Parts: sequence; structure tokens; C-alpha cells
Amino acid sequence: MLFTIVSLLLFLPSLTSSSEAQTWIKAGYWYSGSQFPVPDIDSTLFTHLTFAFAYINTSTYELLIATSDEPYMFTFTDIVRQKNPSITTLLSIWTGDSNFSTFFSMATKPSHRTSLIESSIQRARLYGFHGLELCCVKPDTNTTKMENMGILFDDWRTAVDRESKNSTRSPLLLTLASHYLPSKNSTSYPMESIRRNFDWVHIVAYYYHLPTMENFTGAHSALYDPSSNVSTDYGIKEWISRGLPAEKMVLGLEYHGYAWMLADLTANEIGSSATEAIRTKVSYAREKGLLGYKVWHVANDDNWVLSKAVAQEDEKDPRNKRQLLLVILLPITATVILVLVSATWYLRKRACRNKAQEDEKNPGNKRHYLLILLPTAATVTLVLVYATWYLRKRARRNKRRMGEGKESQSLFKTTMASAGNANAPNLLVFRLTDLVEATNNFLFENKLGEDGYGPVYKAYDLWKCDKGMEFMDPSLDDTYSSCKLMRCMEIALLCVQENPADRPSMLELSSMLKNEIAAMNTPKRPAFSTRRDEDGVQEFTISQQEIWSYGFHGLDLDWEYPQSTSEMANLGVLLDDWRATVATEAQSAGQPLLLLTAAFYYTQSIHGLNYPVQSISNSLDWIDLMAY
Ligand SMILES: *[C@@H]1O[C@H](CO)[C@@H](O)[C@H](O)[C@H]1NC(C)=O
Ligand SMILES: *[C@@H]1O[C@H](CO)[C@@H](O)[C@H](O)[C@H]1NC(C)=O
Ligand SMILES: *[C@@H]1O[C@H](CO)[C@@H](O)[C@H](O)[C@H]1NC(C)=O
Ligand SMILES: *[C@@H]1O[C@H](CO)[C@@H](O)[C@H](O)[C@H]1NC(C)=O
Ligand SMILES: *[C@@H]1O[C@H](CO)[C@@H](O)[C@H](O)[C@H]1NC(C)=O
Ligand SMILES: *[C@@H]1O[C@H](CO)[C@@H](O)[C@H](O)[C@H]1NC(C)=O
Ligand SMILES: *[C@@H]1O[C@H](CO)[C@@H](O)[C@H](O)[C@H]1NC(C)=O
Repeated sequence: MLFTIVSLLLFLPSLTSSSEAQTWIKAGYWYSGSQFPVPDIDSTLFTHLTFAFAYINTSTYELLIATSDEPYMFTFTDIVRQKNPSITTLLSIWTGDSNFSTFFSMATKPSHRTSLIESSIQRARLYGFHGLELCCVKPDTNTTKMENMGILFDDWRTAVDRESKNSTRSPLLLTLASHYLPSKNSTSYPMESIRRNFDWVHIVAYYYHLPTMENFTGAHSALYDPSSNVSTDYGIKEWISRGLPAEKMVLGLEYHGYAWMLADLTANEIGSSATEAIRTKVSYAREKGLLGYKVWHVANDDNWVLSKAVAQEDEKDPRNKRQLLLVILLPITATVILVLVSATWYLRKRACRNKAQEDEKNPGNKRHYLLILLPTAATVTLVLVYATWYLRKRARRNKRRMGEGKESQSLFKTTMASAGNANAPNLLVFRLTDLVEATNNFLFENKLGEDGYGPVYKAYDLWKCDKGMEFMDPSLDDTYSSCKLMRCMEIALLCVQENPADRPSMLELSSMLKNEIAAMNTPKRPAFSTRRDEDGVQEFTISQQEIWSYGFHGLDLDWEYPQSTSEMANLGVLLDDWRATVATEAQSAGQPLLLLTAAFYYTQSIHGLNYPVQSISNSLDWIDLMAY
């Protein structure tokens, strides 16, 4: 009996590890073209974030990075780690659109492969990414090309592992973003090579019907499609049947347009009552035992509604619960059985002995306790050893999947510093922690605007509320002459005005700096501002003449949704006034009439109020019916 229990305990680990859930991957792309501010990404909703994209240089086959993307790459990992320090970041390499000719010429020649592989690893490390993704080469009917692709993947893995050994850092993650189908006609991706070399494959389960490829509309990312094989379910089954294990797959989700929430998950055809749609796909990924999901792309998620919905699916993971149950319940059950068995055995023995010992006074009572305690202690020890072993194993596995932790942050600082040293010896290098402090953790209120290098913070807003001195670097050690400093600040703000006419000339500048009492304009909110200022209200007083000077032939009043009868009446008055002014202006300027148009709701009444049809008809040249 004891033997059975002990062997059960020893057997436990293999049981749980076979059903062990991999870390559920919640990945998302940040696409630099979206212009979505990186600090605004809610990285707590993701385990992995991918920077999209780097490219392949068509002549050297090295990794190609757009100059405008480079500053974002340097700071990407550090910024998203502020909200989620354990997040893993990847750099995605775009392989081209129509025929992948650059990709395949690269894959064909060993020296070209080396160029891409070595430069990609070097750049990923330089920018502090934890991994690379190859996106989104499709299968080709040419078997030679597919073989070359397999060789490329082998080379890549070898290089990644070698670099890891040499640098004594954990290897970069290597992932593939693939077409939803693993094959084209009879040829398929190099499956063996994919399975061997990639940490996972992101199935791009969208773009099923594109206007660039066909002349008929279709469901863009259907999970199921009974009338054709163009569906996610078909693709996933194909991948599995061709030998890619489900737990190596991450399901692509696309965040385009609006998302409905389905009331009934089985009623998901057009016209169904709605609560949520995106969760269906995530629970599908779970059902099929996939590794997670990956979202294209985070900027399309208004207020993180979708990402929150799918992240919540995590809590429902049946595998997590089953696994936890197994880990806790089995050892407890085993302990209870062991204790029960030894107790029964002891009681029976005592019953036998009691007869024999009726006249001897019990000397062995203490030993009887030992008989219960010893097996219990042994079991508890066994359980503890097992639990420690299991937890450590899990932690190790998670660490591997999650990339390397803190290492990259310090790397970022040194690379930035050395880059600075190389190019401009006097360049001041700020530590990220200093910037975080200076901007109060990149608080939106401190954000002034944005330029090619990211958000600009603070100066104008502080100056505006007479706190300009807070902006000054204390190391200037000149705080006693605050008037002088504030004047410099004002001059600086004048130099970055949006309107060139508001900026001082060099001559004026020189006189302002020399002569502390020379008259100066008051700075308005500088260029690149995200917020509009009270200073900016004049922008609507632009004259008709100016409209002409910009070369426009008319004006269009957009999106008028009055909320009350009086607002409706005022709208009518406004249109009549406008028409009268336009007519007068045309006469006095000797110019043709400006066109006057407006966009209105698609019905004549809105919120039970009628648009001022008479004025609209008299004063406007035409209206745009907002039929959407
Ligand atoms: C590709 O690399 C060559 C050689 O370094 C360079 O001259 C060229 O500008 C690169 N192409 C692009 C698009 O950057
Ligand atoms: C692939 O596309 C490029 C340009 O997009 C074109 O120059 C080239 O001829 C194409 N190659 C093939 C094999 O179709
Ligand atoms: C297949 O690809 C290889 C390598 O790119 C090329 O040399 C060969 O001509 C292609 N074969 C066909 C039939 O297109
Ligand atoms: C190993 O790393 C060193 C620098 O740390 C480098 O000089 C050397 O070329 C690397 N060797 C290999 C095989 O990559
Ligand atoms: C691949 O299959 C499609 C139909 O699914 C067919 O139109 C096409 O000619 C086939 N291509 C090759 C190279 O066999
Ligand atoms: C779509 O229609 C255009 C114009 O009729 C035609 O030239 C093109 O070949 C069509 N494309 C496909 C994929 O059928
Ligand atoms: C879908 O693929 C299966 C084979 O995987 C084939 O038997 C079936 O005819 C296909 N259906 C359609 C609608 O193309």
C-alpha cells in the first residue's frame, strides 16, 4: 500500500507536466504608422508587445529601419515596461507585400541570409528587444523556395543560440507570423523547420478577402465559414494536421472597425443580438489548446475595450484551474490516504495487542504516536519537495518564454550613452528615471505636444501659470535672478510659435537678450501642441479674403447636431447670416461667390427636432446627407 502511494507521488510530476498550461500569451502589435503615443499603451493588458516594423534592405539584405522609427525603437521597451515590468518586446520584420521577391532572394543565398540574421540579432539587442518576429511571408508553390526558407529558419535559430551562449544572455525569442493556411496547393511551409526553430507561430487569421486580390466582398476574418474553406477554423485545423502542435500557435485577432458584443455566442450571424464578438475567438483559441493570441494593432482599440475583454478571458482558463486543482488536490489526497492507512494499521495492531497486554501496563504509548507521526512527516516532506520542484520548474519555463527581465533596461542606458558619445561628445544623456521624474511619469497634463521624436513636455504650461521657475534646471545656480531666467524662457517660447509671424527675427532676438526691458510679445501655445488654447479662438475669425488666399472655393460646415429648438433656430439664423456675408464679400472683393455647404444627419429631424429647412434651402448651395 505504502509503495503504491509513494509511486503515485513520484508519478505526479509527469502527470501535471503533461497537462501543464504554457503561459497564456496576450500579444499585441504597436504599429509606428499609427502615431499612437507609446506611453499611452496600457501594457498591463499584454504579456508581449511587438514593434511593427523593420524591413529588409533590397540591396544589402541587412535589416532596414526607417529613420523616423529609430528614436521610437530606442525607447519602446523601456516605456512599455513602466506599466508592466515583466512585459516582453519583439521586433517584427516585414518581408514585403506582393511576391516576396526580396525575401526569397535573401533566403536563397547563404551570405544574404547571414546579412539579415546577424543584423537582426545585433539590432534587436541594441534597441533592447527580447525577440524577433518574421512577418508575414506566405507559402509558395515553388518547392525550392520553401526549402530555402527552411534553411533560413535553421540558420536563424543556430545564430540566435550561438549569440546567446557567447553573450551569456537568454536567447532572443524567435517567432513567425504566418499565413492562415500552411500550404498552397501541394506545397507547404517547411513544417519541420518551423517546429524546430520557432518559439511560436502567430497565425494571421485575417485579411481573408482584400480588394487588391478579388472583386467580391467577403468576411474579412471569419472564424467559421460553412460555404468555403476561407476561415480561421479551417486554417488552424490544417496547421495541426500538417504537424504544428496547437501549443505552438498564437491566434491573430484584428482590431479593425467596430466590435459588437454578442448576447448569444451561438447566434453570431449578421443581425444577432450583441454583447461581444472578440471573446468568441479567444475562447476558440483556448478550446483548441493554442498558446495565446496576438492583436493587430493596439492603436485601434478605443479605451482598451477589446483588450480588456479578451484579457478577462484569462480568468476563465479551464486549463489553469484544472492544473491548480491537480497540483493541490493530489498531494493532499495522497497524504490523507497515507495517514488513514497508517492509522488503521496502528489501531488494528493495538486492538490485537490490547488482548495480549491486558495485564502488562502500557509502556509503549509514545511509540504508538511515532507510528502515526513518522509516515505523516515523510509524506509532508515528499509533498514539499515536489511542490518546490514543480514551482521552480514553472518559474524557469515562464522566464524563458517571457524573455530576459531586467537586463535590457541597463543595456538601454549604456547604448544610448555610447551612441551619444560617438556622435556628439557633449551630448547630455538623461537617464529614463530622470525623465520619468521630470514629467511626473509622462503624465498627460505635463504633455505639451508631439514632434518627430515623441512627446514634448511642460515648459509652456508651467510658464502660463507663473511656475516657470519650476522648469529651470537647478544646476544653472542662477535662481536669484529669476526675472532674467523667466525672460529667457519667454524668448525661447516665442521662438517655437506655430505661426512664423509670431516668432522673433534674429535681430529682435539679439536685442531681447541684450536689453532686458525691450518690449516683447506674449508667447502663445507653441507649435506641436495637442491642446487648443484660449489664445487660439481667433482662428474662426479668418476673413473671406483669407479663404480665397488659401485657394479654396467654398466652406463646408460639418456635423451639426443641434440639441434644442432654440439651437435649431440659431442654426437657421447662422446660415442666413453666413450667406448674406458671403454675398457682400463677393461683391466688395469682386470675386465669385464662395460655395456654402453643410453636412447634416441623414433624416430631416434629429432628437425629435426639425432642421431649419427653409434656411438650409435658401442659404446653402447643397448639403451632404450623412448616410453612415
Ligand atoms: C540599403 O543599404 C545600402 C548600403 O548600405 C544603402 O545605400 C541604402 O540606402 C539602403 N537602402 C535603404 C532603402 O535604406
Ligand atoms: C515582384 O515584385 C517586384 C516589384 O514589386 C517586381 O519588380 C518583380 O518583377 C516581381 N517579381 C516576380 C517574380 O513577379
Ligand atoms: C523556384 O525558386 C528558385 C529559387 O528562387 C528559382 O531558381 C527557380 O527558378 C524557381 N522555379 C520555378 C519553377 O519558378
Ligand atoms: C562573441 O562576442 C564577442 C564580443 O562579446 C565578439 O567579439 C565575438 O565575435 C563573438 N563571437 C561569436 C562567435 O559570435
Ligand atoms: C493552385 O490551386 C489553384 C486552385 O486552388 C489553381 O487555380 C492554381 O492553378 C494552382 N497552382 C498551381 C501552381 O498548381
Ligand atoms: C477585378 O476587376 C477588374 C476590372 O473589371 C479586372 O481588371 C481584374 O482582373 C479583376 N480582378 C480579379 C482578381 O478578378
Ligand atoms: C475544403 O477543404 C476540404 C479538404 O480539406 C475539401 O474536401 C472541401 O471540398 C473544401 N471545401 C470547399 C468549399 O472548398
